[in-house]
Amino acid sequence: MAVVCCSYTRYMHQFPQHFTRQDFGDNFKWGVAISAFQNEGAALVDGKGKSIWDVFSTQKGKIKDRSHAQTATDFYNRYTTDIFLARQLGFSIFRFSISWPRLIPGGTGAINNSGIAFYHRVIDTCLQAGLIPYVTLYHWDLPHALEQKGGWVHRGTVFAFEEFVRVCAREYGDKVKNWIVLNEPFGFTSLGYMLGVHAPGKFGLSYFLPAVHHAALAQAAGGQVLREMVKDAVIGTTYSCSHMVPYTQNEQDIQAAARADALFNRLFIEPALGLGYPVDAFPMLQRIERRYALWRDWDKLAFNFDYIGLQYYFPLTVRYNAFMPNLQLSEVKASSRQVPLTGLGWEISSKGLYDILHQFSAYKGVKKIIITEGGAAFPDRIAGGDVFDQQRIDYFQEYLGAVLQARRDGMPVEGFFVWTLLDNFEWTEGYRARFGLVHVDFETQQRTVKASGKWFRQFLQGGAMAG
Ligand code: NOJ
Repeated sequence: MAVVCCSYTRYMHQFPQHFTRQDFGDNFKWGVAISAFQNEGAALVDGKGKSIWDVFSTQKGKIKDRSHAQTATDFYNRYTTDIFLARQLGFSIFRFSISWPRLIPGGTGAINNSGIAFYHRVIDTCLQAGLIPYVTLYHWDLPHALEQKGGWVHRGTVFAFEEFVRVCAREYGDKVKNWIVLNEPFGFTSLGYMLGVHAPGKFGLSYFLPAVHHAALAQAAGGQVLREMVKDAVIGTTYSCSHMVPYTQNEQDIQAAARADALFNRLFIEPALGLGYPVDAFPMLQRIERRYALWRDWDKLAFNFDYIGLQYYFPLTVRYNAFMPNLQLSEVKASSRQVPLTGLGWEISSKGLYDILHQFSAYKGVKKIIITEGGAAFPDRIAGGDVFDQQRIDYFQEYLGAVLQARRDGMPVEGFFVWTLLDNFEWTEGYRARFGLVHVDFETQQRTVKASGKWFRQFLQGGAMAG
């Protein structure tokens, strides 16, 4: 049996360091994930409408390296090569998203047949390659036409989303059984409607709270449409999550960490589970309850998901901060705490992954968990036509050890999808943050499998991993 060696010596915690694919069991799901906007390019061809990201990313000063995603990894033209590459790396699942404005350019109404045909081709190629498609319905590229009516702040977007999901279910439901309704609703509502640093660039509570409520309604409504229309559908949704660590054991820091937990981790899963918004830890959320009292929405927020997708990148350390009027908390930056960091300055902590899995497993209504994204950006080294990224290999080894331990301890974690196949457009970072198992030369679009991609291939073929 082949042995993949690893020079890893950093924080190993108590998790297994020597394991093989078999240790995760035959039914463990190994996938690789991408999203439409970050990869497809073909921004305005074949009838596609503009998304909020097409608009936002071409505004001055929004993207750190001044790039845009009009071509990205050119997945629109190269999907056959890329899907077969995912298969060659040994994965059995390919997660991708459908661009809403490619299918329905105006957000509602007229359907773009070229867009419909494109995703049929992508799905058929997955099936030919022996990959199971996991389809994300919303990975942040809202049709710009809907944003002009208020976007997620406007209730009409929930109805428009249902219509879009109906089109997807009708078109692809015979071939696609595994669905993801939303990608990281806390991510797109907080970054896009509270902090204004992602599309559509709105900021303030008057945008954020309605956007949260409408996204929460959409996650349940989308699930419901799939349940009604797709026979044997397996329906999930995904959450960004960060285990919260109080900076000190002083009561104020502990409370601050609880507030952060309510926002970052509990805000969308609890309404989906029928538990309502986490007002206990974050009383400000009562404003949502008051504002929508007349709509009698509370039952409409719940949906019986078959699994929950968790996307964990880093834990957060927080402390009480009296100068933050609404939150009364602030993050203690990882860079000030002598902890290992990724290329984006994100704390590397497999313990945080274990702890967050533990936290989500404790919900009675969570039946299964899949890590629907896991990965890291590092500065890769290119030499003699090869791409060396030992840090990424170390990272996966450490994080997978935590997943294995979680399984051994009885948590229902049943899959791990790598973020991501190809270096791609990392939102406001542009192309300088590279997360791929495959390096992309954005001048030539040449793909080169990195050392981490080869490592995964060997691991998935059954090779052992030695610490
Ligand atoms: C979360 C998002 O779903 C994905 O689009 C992004 O690229 C990764 N995490 C890394 O930031």
